[in-house]
Amino acid sequence: MQKLVIRGGPRLRGEVRVSGAKNAVLPSIAASLLTAEEVRLTNVPRVKDVETILTLIADLGGAAEASGDRVSLRVPKILSDEASYGLVRAMRASILVLGPLLARFGKAVVALPGGCAIGSRPIDLHIAGLQKLGAAITLEHGYIRAEAGRLRGAEFAFDKKTVTGTENLLMAAALAKGETVLRNCAREPEVADLAALLNKMGARIDWPDPDTARVRGVRELGGAAHEIIPDRIEAGTFLVAGALAAGDFVVRGVVPGHVGSVVEKLRVAGASIEPEGETALRVVGRGEVRALDITTLPYPGFPTDMQAQAMVLLTQAEGTSIITETIFDRRFSHVNELVRLGAAIEVRGDKAVIRGPAPLSGAEVVATDLRASAALVLAGLVASGETTVTEIEHLDRGYERIEEKLRGLGAAIERIGT
Ligand code: EPU
Repeated sequence: MQKLVIRGGPRLRGEVRVSGAKNAVLPSIAASLLTAEEVRLTNVPRVKDVETILTLIADLGGAAEASGDRVSLRVPKILSDEASYGLVRAMRASILVLGPLLARFGKAVVALPGGCAIGSRPIDLHIAGLQKLGAAITLEHGYIRAEAGRLRGAEFAFDKKTVTGTENLLMAAALAKGETVLRNCAREPEVADLAALLNKMGARIDWPDPDTARVRGVRELGGAAHEIIPDRIEAGTFLVAGALAAGDFVVRGVVPGHVGSVVEKLRVAGASIEPEGETALRVVGRGEVRALDITTLPYPGFPTDMQAQAMVLLTQAEGTSIITETIFDRRFSHVNELVRLGAAIEVRGDKAVIRGPAPLSGAEVVATDLRASAALVLAGLVASGETTVTEIEHLDRGYERIEEKLRGLGAAIERIGT
C-alpha cells in the first residue's frame, strides 16, 4: 500500500503544468466506440481512471494503444457488449459506454453503479433519455440491459443537470435517425470538449443556447484527432495550494475561463491570481485568508470537485465560513479527517461550518474519494510536522504524479511503499 508523507511548511515557488482533464478524456475514449475508424487523443493524463476505461474498451473488443500522453483507439467491431460490475464499481464513469454501444451496436449491458463514497448518484436520467430515443431498457440482476434498432431523434429535457448523462445522450443522439434536442444540458467544459470531438468525427451538434444541444443524427461517424482540454480541477487544486501555503508560483496549461468561479473565490479569500499570457495563472498567497461562503453548483458555478480543497483553505481563514454542497448528498467525507488534523468544522445537513483559523497538526489520515484525498494533501502542506495520507489509490485515479508536481514547487512530499 502506498502512502504520501508530507512535511508542512515550505512556501511553494516556481511553476507547475496541469495535465489533460480526466473528466474530458473519459467520455472521449468512450466516443471511440461510435466509429470503426481511429480516434487519436493527445494531452491524455496518465491516471488510473484512464487505465480503467482503456481496460473496458479492450474487454469490449477494441484496440487501445497508449504512449506518453497519447492514446489511439480503434473499435472495428465488438466482442462483448457488457461492462462488468467489477469495472463499473472501480469507476462509475464506465456508464459512459452505454450510449455509444447502444447507438452503434444496438445493445448494451452495463452494471448498475449503485451508490458511492460521495452520495447516492442515480442514473435515472441517462436511462430516461435513452428511452426517449427509442431504447428498450430493463434493469435486472444489477445490470442495465438496453436494446434498440437505430435510435430515433427526440426531444428530452433533463430534470437536473447531469454531466455524464448529457455526454451519454450526446453520443447516442449522434448516430440516431433525425434530430434530437436536449434541454437543460450540463455546460461543463468537459461536455463541450466531447461535443467538439464528436463534431470532428462527423457528428452535427450545435448549441442554440448554452443549455440546449441540437444533434442532427448521422448514419456513421469517422476517425478524428483531438487534444484534450486542461484539467480545471487539477488547476484549481494548485491554485488553492498557492493561496493556502503563501505560495508564489505559476500554474501553466490552464484555460483561465474554466476556473473563473474558483479564482473569484480565492481572490475574495485574499489570494492574488493574475494571468500570465493566455494559458497560465500566477497565484500569490498572502499568508492571511479571509472567511467566505461557497455554494457548489453546476458549471459555471463553483465546482463540487473543488469543495473539499476549498474547505482546507477556509480552515485557515479568519472567521466563520459556510460551504453548501448542492450537487452530492454525502460529499463531506474529508471533514472528519480534517478535524483529526485540528480543523474546526461542523456538518449540518448540506452545510459545513468552518471556524478559523485553526492550526493544523500532522497525523495519519485516510480519504475514500478522489477530491477528499487531494484536500488532505493540501492540509499536509500547512500542517505542523508530518501528515501521512493513506489509501492514495483514490488520488491516483485523477491526479497525475501530484507529489512530483508539488515537489517541483518546493513541497516536502514523498510517496512511500509499494
Ligand atoms: N443525477 C441524477 N440522475 C441522473 C444523473 C445524475 O439525479 O441520472 C444527479 C446526481 O445524483 C447529482 C447530480 O445529478 O446529484 C449531478 O451528477 P452528475 O450526473 O453531473 O455527475 P456525474 O456525471 O456522475 C461528473 C464527474 C464528477 C463530478 C460531477 C459533477 C465525470 C466522469 N465525473 O459526474 O467528477 O463531480 O460530474 O460535476 O465527469 C471527480 O472527478 O472527482 C468527480 C466525482
